[in-house]
Amino acid sequence: MTQGKKKPTAARWRHYNFTTAGPVDDYLYSMLPKREEVLAEMEDYATQHNVPIVGPAVARVLQQLAMMIDARTVFELGSAIGYSTIWWAQAVGEKGRVVYTDGDRKNAERARGYFARAGVANRITIHTGDALEFLSEQKAEFDIIFNDVDKEDYPRVLRLISPRLRKGGLFITDNVLWSGRVAEKNPTDASTKAILEFNRKLYDSKDFYTTILPIRDGLAVALKK
Ligand SMILES: C[S@@+](CC[C@H](N)C(=O)[O-])C[C@H]1O[C@@H](n2cnc3c(N)ncnc32)[C@H](O)[C@@H]1O
Repeated sequence: MTQGKKKPTAARWRHYNFTTAGPVDDYLYSMLPKREEVLAEMEDYATQHNVPIVGPAVARVLQQLAMMIDARTVFELGSAIGYSTIWWAQAVGEKGRVVYTDGDRKNAERARGYFARAGVANRITIHTGDALEFLSEQKAEFDIIFNDVDKEDYPRVLRLISPRLRKGGLFITDNVLWSGRVAEKNPTDASTKAILEFNRKLYDSKDFYTTILPIRDGLAVALKK
């Protein structure tokens, strides 16, 4: 740098507010192929009834990650009406297995109907009750563990997963940017604080190699070493 010239405050390779800006987001969604009827209906149902599903852009990333490591088994914490579950079930193939978990029986009933219509019911085990408790009872190792439960539980989930995930497996977590609240100066809200603790510990963990993909609400992808 020439002397006397002001040092730039922002790194040149940064793209502030670029990926999450509205028109770019619209563009990303416009690139997605049309979903099959059941998934499209679930997206409409989620919109009408405020069910917080990952949506098709993130779901496509989930499916791609599963394809990249040739995943056959997925444990999902927090499945709601089973939207992300169906994307996982399609990714693991006919011989694969996906564990659906949700605390709400009505969600599970609705999900069961969608699984049958999507032709993937035989790949999915439905568990209603506490997802963390059920995960801690698992003896087998999974290829992927997907975390989408209440945000205050994220640090507790992190303490549970390592023995239940195979080496080279993926621990994936949604909403880790929490609508940008992770960047607040002094957050007071319990969910934001839990996510901040979770993200810090996940990045610092010697067991995982982690990246947050800033797609939608932030997706943390952690590879088990
Ligand atoms: C964000 S939604 C899941 C959406 C789903 N992964 C999708 O994208 O289609 C979170 C769900 O987790 C469930 N949930 C939250 N905490 C839970 C827990 N500890 N055990 C089981 N289910 C839980 C809620 O009932 C809710 O339906």
